[in-house]
Amino acid sequence: MSEQKATNITWHEARVGRNEREELSGHRGIVVWFTGLSASGKSTVANEVDHRLHAMGKRTYVLDGDNVRHGLNKNLGFSAEDRAENIRRIGEVAGLFVDAGTIVLTAFISPYTADRQQARELLGEGEFIEVYVNASLATCEARDPKGLYAKARAGEIKGFTGIDDPYEAPEQAELVLDADSKGISELAAEVVEFLETSGCLSV
Ligand code: ADX
Repeated sequence: MSEQKATNITWHEARVGRNEREELSGHRGIVVWFTGLSASGKSTVANEVDHRLHAMGKRTYVLDGDNVRHGLNKNLGFSAEDRAENIRRIGEVAGLFVDAGTIVLTAFISPYTADRQQARELLGEGEFIEVYVNASLATCEARDPKGLYAKARAGEIKGFTGIDDPYEAPEQAELVLDADSKGISELAAEVVEFLETSGCLSV
């Protein structure tokens, strides 16, 4: 938990409430939290779900690891401490999107259970939907779209998730996607169906 440094600050209540924002959206504010190894397909699936929900008239937004690390989190690396801070900030930002009545899709490796748990606890019951994009290391390494697994194997990147830094697979994810054997379209359809049947896509 990071330390509260600022003093003399007061919480200001918003005039427009969460419920009113959700009414306007026509659905609840939720986080769909994708987790999985690098190259498991998190960002691609999240973007496909985003595209489908947007076409259905839902208010959505994707927060993606590589993108957020270019801006908000550009001062963070890949030590356990920095990864925890990365996920803490994303959890907070995701919470703001939920408050704004939006469906926010996050695509971060988020390798440590405790960090994901902390993000879950920031949100209310049923608002944090953890989706484990389960692709084996062998699959991810064979894909290696950015050539990072090859670099990690060659010792050019230290502390790479799945190689010499752990990935703690979720044990109680709301949804587990079999990303070894299914394609993006099928996986995205599973996510949309889950959201529909669990009542997330209406108020
Ligand atoms: S997380 O561990 O803090 O959740 P995040 O999802 O933001 O990671 O960023 C992961 C992306 O950073 C990977 O997809 C990869 O492109 C890049 N990356 C660079 N170095 C590493 C590393 N040591 N471990 C994992 N990913 C890395």
